[in-house]
Amino acid sequence: MKNIRRIAAVLAFILCLAALVSCGGSTPTVEEIKKRGTITMATNASFPPFEFTDGVDETGATKYVGIDIEIFKEIAKDLGVNYEVMDMEFAGIIGAVQTGKADLGIAGMSVTDERKKSVDFTVEYFTSQNVIVVPVSNTEINTAADVEGKIIAVQTGTTSDMFASSEDFCPGATVQRYGSFIDAASAVKTGKADLMVVDIMTAAEILAQNDDLRQLEEPLADEAYAIAVQKGNTTLLEAVNSTLNRLISEGKIGQYVEQYTTASEG
Ligand code: ARG
Repeated sequence: MKNIRRIAAVLAFILCLAALVSCGGSTPTVEEIKKRGTITMATNASFPPFEFTDGVDETGATKYVGIDIEIFKEIAKDLGVNYEVMDMEFAGIIGAVQTGKADLGIAGMSVTDERKKSVDFTVEYFTSQNVIVVPVSNTEINTAADVEGKIIAVQTGTTSDMFASSEDFCPGATVQRYGSFIDAASAVKTGKADLMVVDIMTAAEILAQNDDLRQLEEPLADEAYAIAVQKGNTTLLEAVNSTLNRLISEGKIGQYVEQYTTASEG
Protein backbone atom coordinates (compact mmCIF):
# COMPACT_ATOMS: atom_id res chain seq x y z
CA MET A 1 0.00 0.00 0.00
CA LYS A 2 2.80 2.38 1.00
CA ASN A 3 4.62 1.53 -2.21
CA ILE A 4 1.60 2.31 -4.36
CA ARG A 5 1.26 5.69 -2.71
CA ARG A 6 4.92 6.39 -3.27
CA ILE A 7 4.65 5.41 -6.94
CA ALA A 8 1.55 7.59 -7.32
CA ALA A 9 3.41 10.53 -5.80
CA VAL A 10 6.37 10.06 -8.12
CA LEU A 11 4.02 9.79 -11.13
CA ALA A 12 2.22 12.96 -10.11
CA PHE A 13 5.56 14.74 -9.80
CA ILE A 14 6.64 13.62 -13.27
CA LEU A 15 3.31 14.73 -14.73
CA CYS A 16 3.74 18.17 -13.15
CA LEU A 17 7.23 18.49 -14.59
CA ALA A 18 5.99 17.48 -18.04
CA ALA A 19 3.20 20.04 -17.83
CA LEU A 20 5.68 22.74 -16.85
CA VAL A 21 7.93 21.94 -19.79
CA SER A 22 5.09 21.75 -22.32
CA CYS A 23 3.37 24.98 -21.34
CA GLY A 24 6.10 27.51 -21.50
CA GLY A 25 9.28 25.82 -20.37
CA SER A 26 10.60 25.83 -23.92
CA THR A 27 13.65 27.56 -25.31
CA PRO A 28 13.05 29.56 -28.50
CA THR A 29 16.36 28.88 -30.27
CA VAL A 30 17.08 30.48 -33.65
CA GLU A 31 16.33 27.11 -35.27
CA GLU A 32 12.96 26.93 -33.47
CA ILE A 33 12.05 30.48 -34.53
CA LYS A 34 13.00 29.86 -38.16
CA LYS A 35 10.94 26.66 -38.18
CA ARG A 36 7.99 28.56 -36.71
CA GLY A 37 8.50 31.40 -39.20
CA THR A 38 7.67 34.19 -36.71
CA ILE A 39 9.56 35.92 -33.92
CA THR A 40 7.66 37.45 -31.00
CA MET A 41 8.46 40.49 -28.89
CA ALA A 42 7.01 41.18 -25.45
CA THR A 43 6.61 44.88 -24.77
CA ASN A 44 4.44 47.52 -23.15
CA ALA A 45 3.41 49.84 -25.95
CA SER A 46 2.77 52.97 -23.90
CA PHE A 47 6.33 54.24 -23.93
CA PRO A 48 6.94 56.79 -26.68
CA PRO A 49 9.27 57.19 -28.55
CA PHE A 50 10.35 53.54 -28.03
CA GLU A 51 6.97 51.77 -28.43
CA PHE A 52 3.50 53.17 -28.76
CA THR A 53 0.39 52.64 -30.86
CA ASP A 54 -0.64 54.61 -33.92
CA GLY A 55 -4.22 53.68 -34.76
CA VAL A 56 -5.07 50.55 -36.73
CA ASP A 57 -4.04 49.18 -40.13
CA GLU A 58 -6.30 48.19 -43.06
CA THR A 59 -7.13 44.88 -41.35
CA GLY A 60 -8.13 46.61 -38.12
CA ALA A 61 -5.04 45.43 -36.24
CA THR A 62 -3.32 47.82 -33.80
CA LYS A 63 -0.30 49.51 -35.37
CA TYR A 64 2.76 49.42 -33.12
CA VAL A 65 5.46 52.00 -33.87
CA GLY A 66 8.64 53.40 -32.35
CA ILE A 67 12.39 52.92 -32.05
CA ASP A 68 12.15 49.42 -30.52
CA ILE A 69 9.65 48.29 -33.17
CA GLU A 70 12.09 49.36 -35.93
CA ILE A 71 14.87 47.41 -34.20
CA PHE A 72 12.59 44.37 -33.87
CA LYS A 73 11.70 44.49 -37.59
CA GLU A 74 15.41 44.48 -38.44
CA ILE A 75 15.99 41.46 -36.19
CA ALA A 76 13.13 39.63 -37.95
CA LYS A 77 14.49 40.66 -41.35
CA ASP A 78 17.98 39.36 -40.55
CA LEU A 79 16.47 36.03 -39.42
CA GLY A 80 14.16 35.90 -42.46
CA VAL A 81 10.99 35.52 -40.38
CA ASN A 82 7.74 37.42 -39.71
CA TYR A 83 7.31 39.40 -36.53
CA GLU A 84 4.60 39.74 -33.92
CA VAL A 85 4.31 42.32 -31.13
CA MET A 86 2.85 41.09 -27.82
CA ASP A 87 1.61 44.10 -25.86
CA MET A 88 1.39 43.43 -22.11
CA GLU A 89 1.99 44.95 -18.68
CA PHE A 90 5.60 46.05 -18.31
CA ALA A 91 5.90 43.95 -15.14
CA GLY A 92 4.99 40.81 -17.12
CA ILE A 93 7.68 41.08 -19.80
CA ILE A 94 10.54 39.38 -17.92
CA GLY A 95 8.28 36.44 -17.02
CA ALA A 96 7.12 36.10 -20.63
CA VAL A 97 10.75 35.88 -21.79
CA GLN A 98 11.73 33.56 -18.94
CA THR A 99 9.01 31.03 -19.77
CA GLY A 100 9.43 31.26 -23.54
CA LYS A 101 5.96 32.77 -24.02
CA ALA A 102 7.76 35.52 -25.96
CA ASP A 103 11.12 35.26 -27.71
CA LEU A 104 12.41 38.73 -26.83
CA GLY A 105 11.68 41.48 -24.34
CA ILE A 106 12.10 44.81 -26.13
CA ALA A 107 10.71 47.64 -24.05
CA GLY A 108 13.24 50.39 -23.48
CA MET A 109 14.30 48.01 -20.76
CA SER A 110 17.14 49.13 -18.53
CA VAL A 111 19.77 46.56 -17.63
CA THR A 112 19.76 45.96 -13.86
CA ASP A 113 21.52 43.38 -11.66
CA GLU A 114 18.15 42.18 -10.40
CA ARG A 115 16.82 41.54 -13.92
CA LYS A 116 20.08 39.83 -14.91
CA LYS A 117 19.19 37.08 -12.44
CA SER A 118 16.12 36.23 -14.56
CA VAL A 119 17.12 36.94 -18.18
CA ASP A 120 20.19 37.52 -20.36
CA PHE A 121 20.72 40.93 -21.92
CA THR A 122 22.08 41.78 -25.37
CA VAL A 123 24.53 44.60 -26.04
CA GLU A 124 23.25 47.98 -24.90
CA TYR A 125 21.69 50.14 -27.63
CA PHE A 126 20.68 53.33 -25.82
CA THR A 127 21.79 55.34 -22.79
CA SER A 128 19.05 56.93 -20.71
CA GLN A 129 18.36 58.56 -17.39
CA ASN A 130 15.30 58.90 -15.24
CA VAL A 131 14.06 62.41 -14.57
CA ILE A 132 11.55 64.01 -12.23
CA VAL A 133 8.40 65.64 -13.66
CA VAL A 134 6.19 67.98 -11.60
CA PRO A 135 3.29 70.32 -12.35
CA VAL A 136 4.41 73.74 -13.59
CA SER A 137 2.45 75.17 -10.66
CA ASN A 138 4.69 73.33 -8.19
CA THR A 139 7.58 75.60 -7.19
CA GLU A 140 8.57 73.57 -4.16
CA ILE A 141 10.20 70.52 -5.82
CA ASN A 142 13.41 71.55 -7.55
CA THR A 143 16.00 68.85 -6.86
CA ALA A 144 15.94 65.11 -6.19
CA ALA A 145 16.32 65.89 -2.48
CA ASP A 146 12.91 67.60 -2.45
CA VAL A 147 11.01 64.34 -3.12
CA GLU A 148 11.28 63.24 0.51
CA GLY A 149 7.84 62.34 1.90
CA LYS A 150 6.09 63.10 -1.40
CA ILE A 151 3.57 61.09 -3.43
CA ILE A 152 5.41 59.67 -6.45
CA ALA A 153 3.66 58.25 -9.54
CA VAL A 154 5.50 55.57 -11.54
CA GLN A 155 4.86 52.76 -14.00
CA THR A 156 4.70 49.45 -12.13
CA GLY A 157 7.90 47.40 -12.15
CA THR A 158 10.11 49.97 -13.86
CA THR A 159 13.39 51.41 -12.63
CA SER A 160 11.34 54.50 -11.68
CA ASP A 161 9.31 52.25 -9.38
CA MET A 162 12.55 50.86 -7.88
CA PHE A 163 13.91 54.39 -7.35
CA ALA A 164 10.71 55.71 -5.78
CA SER A 165 10.37 52.61 -3.58
CA SER A 166 13.89 52.95 -2.21
CA GLU A 167 14.13 54.40 1.30
CA ASP A 168 17.65 55.62 0.44
CA PHE A 169 16.57 57.78 -2.49
CA CYS A 170 13.01 58.66 -1.53
CA PRO A 171 12.65 58.44 2.25
CA GLY A 172 9.07 58.49 3.49
CA ALA A 173 7.63 58.65 -0.04
CA THR A 174 4.29 57.14 -1.01
CA VAL A 175 4.54 55.27 -4.31
CA GLN A 176 1.53 55.24 -6.66
CA ARG A 177 1.89 52.53 -9.31
CA TYR A 178 0.22 52.81 -12.73
CA GLY A 179 0.01 50.59 -15.80
CA SER A 180 1.74 53.24 -17.93
CA PHE A 181 3.72 56.44 -17.61
CA ILE A 182 0.89 58.18 -19.47
CA ASP A 183 -1.47 57.29 -16.58
CA ALA A 184 1.21 58.31 -14.06
CA ALA A 185 1.39 61.71 -15.81
CA SER A 186 -2.40 62.10 -15.49
CA ALA A 187 -2.08 61.51 -11.75
CA VAL A 188 0.46 64.35 -11.52
CA LYS A 189 -1.69 66.65 -13.66
CA THR A 190 -4.78 66.05 -11.54
CA GLY A 191 -2.90 66.45 -8.25
CA LYS A 192 -3.29 62.82 -7.15
CA ALA A 193 0.52 62.60 -7.06
CA ASP A 194 3.13 65.30 -6.44
CA LEU A 195 5.59 64.13 -9.08
CA MET A 196 6.51 61.32 -11.40
CA VAL A 197 9.82 59.63 -12.14
CA VAL A 198 10.18 58.64 -15.80
CA ASP A 199 12.77 57.93 -18.52
CA ILE A 200 14.06 61.16 -20.10
CA MET A 201 12.94 60.47 -23.69
CA THR A 202 9.42 59.54 -22.59
CA ALA A 203 9.34 62.61 -20.33
CA ALA A 204 10.07 64.75 -23.40
CA GLU A 205 7.16 63.16 -25.29
CA ILE A 206 4.81 63.64 -22.35
CA LEU A 207 5.93 67.26 -21.88
CA ALA A 208 5.38 67.95 -25.59
CA GLN A 209 1.69 67.11 -25.00
CA ASN A 210 1.26 68.74 -21.60
CA ASP A 211 2.37 72.33 -21.07
CA ASP A 212 1.20 72.19 -17.45
CA LEU A 213 4.06 69.80 -16.61
CA ARG A 214 7.77 70.59 -16.25
CA GLN A 215 10.90 68.48 -15.85
CA LEU A 216 13.63 69.06 -13.27
CA GLU A 217 16.92 69.77 -14.97
CA GLU A 218 19.09 67.41 -12.93
CA PRO A 219 18.70 63.81 -14.20
CA LEU A 220 19.00 60.77 -11.90
CA ALA A 221 21.54 57.97 -12.53
CA ASP A 222 22.51 56.73 -16.03
CA GLU A 223 20.81 53.59 -17.30
CA ALA A 224 21.28 51.56 -20.49
CA TYR A 225 18.63 49.84 -22.60
CA ALA A 226 19.14 46.31 -23.90
CA ILE A 227 16.99 43.45 -25.17
CA ALA A 228 16.05 40.61 -22.83
CA VAL A 229 16.53 37.02 -24.01
CA GLN A 230 15.76 33.79 -22.14
CA LYS A 231 18.68 32.75 -19.94
CA GLY A 232 21.13 30.48 -21.76
CA ASN A 233 19.53 30.97 -25.19
CA THR A 234 22.88 31.77 -26.79
CA THR A 235 21.93 31.27 -30.44
CA LEU A 236 19.20 33.90 -30.16
CA LEU A 237 21.36 36.22 -28.05
CA GLU A 238 24.10 36.12 -30.70
CA ALA A 239 21.68 36.67 -33.57
CA VAL A 240 20.13 39.71 -31.86
CA ASN A 241 23.55 41.08 -30.93
CA SER A 242 24.68 40.89 -34.53
CA THR A 243 21.63 42.86 -35.71
CA LEU A 244 22.07 45.42 -32.91
CA ASN A 245 25.78 45.84 -33.67
CA ARG A 246 24.97 46.32 -37.34
CA LEU A 247 22.30 48.94 -36.58
CA ILE A 248 24.64 50.76 -34.19
CA SER A 249 27.51 50.82 -36.70
CA GLU A 250 25.20 51.97 -39.50
CA GLY A 251 23.95 54.83 -37.31
CA LYS A 252 20.40 53.46 -37.61
CA ILE A 253 19.50 53.74 -33.93
CA GLY A 254 20.18 57.49 -34.08
CA GLN A 255 17.96 57.73 -37.17
CA TYR A 256 15.09 55.92 -35.43
CA VAL A 257 15.47 58.20 -32.43
CA GLU A 258 15.18 61.23 -34.69
CA GLN A 259 12.26 59.73 -36.58
CA TYR A 260 10.15 59.09 -33.46
CA THR A 261 11.11 62.02 -31.24
CA THR A 262 8.57 64.84 -31.28
CA ALA A 263 11.13 67.52 -30.41
CA SER A 264 13.18 66.72 -33.51
CA GLU A 265 10.20 66.97 -35.89
CA GLY A 266 10.39 70.34 -36.78
N1 ARG B 1 13.66 51.96 -18.61
C1 ARG B 1 12.70 51.70 -17.60
C2 ARG B 1 12.87 50.30 -17.06
O1 ARG B 1 13.54 49.51 -17.63
C3 ARG B 1 11.27 51.89 -18.07
C4 ARG B 1 10.87 51.08 -19.25
C5 ARG B 1 9.40 51.14 -19.54
N2 ARG B 1 9.12 50.56 -20.81
C6 ARG B 1 7.89 50.42 -21.36
N3 ARG B 1 7.81 49.90 -22.54
N4 ARG B 1 6.83 50.80 -20.73
O2 ARG B 1 12.36 49.95 -16.03
